[in-house]
Amino acid sequence: MNVFVLSSFIVTVLTQGLDLSKFRQHDYQFIIERADALHYDKRYMNYVKVIPFKCNRTNVALNGTFSFKINVGSELVVMVQFYRFASNEYRLFPLRFQDKFCKFFEENVTGFQRLLNCGNFVGCPLVSNITFCNFIPDESKFPPLIPSGSYRLNLHALYSNNELFVLEVYAKITRPEVK
Ligand SMILES: *[C@@H]1O[C@H](CO)[C@@H](O)[C@H](O)[C@H]1NC(C)=O
Ligand SMILES: *[C@@H]1O[C@H](CO)[C@@H](O)[C@H](O)[C@H]1NC(C)=O
Ligand SMILES: *[C@@H]1O[C@H](CO)[C@@H](O)[C@H](O)[C@H]1NC(C)=O
Ligand SMILES: *[C@@H]1O[C@H](CO)[C@@H](O)[C@H](O)[C@H]1NC(C)=O
Repeated sequence: MNVFVLSSFIVTVLTQGLDLSKFRQHDYQFIIERADALHYDKRYMNYVKVIPFKCNRTNVALNGTFSFKINVGSELVVMVQFYRFASNEYRLFPLRFQDKFCKFFEENVTGFQRLLNCGNFVGCPLVSNITFCNFIPDESKFPPLIPSGSYRLNLHALYSNNELFVLEVYAKITRPEVK
């Protein structure tokens, strides 16, 4: 039943453009388990690094470095595709959204403005060498109604039809038990 509501949410997103103000929820917890840079294109990037580490008993935080060979400015696009773990593998899940990174940042989607708290990142437009640290996303700024489960999120960084790099984030979505 949740899946049905979720599908209508996604259809809305895809047909009407992203309404980022809908990225609000207080229903589930989103907890990162690990993350890494799946690959990057050496034509456009010097390197991409993501280092997950346990920062307390429940949370994994991320440090990262992005070194661009090209000037992406405010035009870097991020496409996020969800995969859900079922029958022993991560399977394509019908939740995907994309927009310019700077738009996500401005709207504070997933609490991206926390990236300002640690490292040299100062916001948009993006500069060629970026570091961030101790980043934990804010689950209250995620899309609503995603079913509980184990997920992989692939974040594709795109610039004028080229894929610069792909990050993988493994995370759990859980809900408090109803008594
Ligand atoms: C772990 O750290 C996060 C972020 O600082 C905090 O929100 C959370 O409450 C902490 N959890 C525990 C169990 O200390
Ligand atoms: C963006 O989200 C983070 C995490 O929830 C919050 O700490 C910060 O205050 C927000 N920034 C603004 C401008 O609302
Ligand atoms: C960014 O980092 C690369 C690799 O370390 C370096 O070659 C380049 O000079 C740096 N660019 C800037 C603008 O600092
Ligand atoms: C993450 O970055 C912080 C701040 O630079 C640093 O103190 C910490 O050692 C880093 N952690 C890991 C696991 O690299």
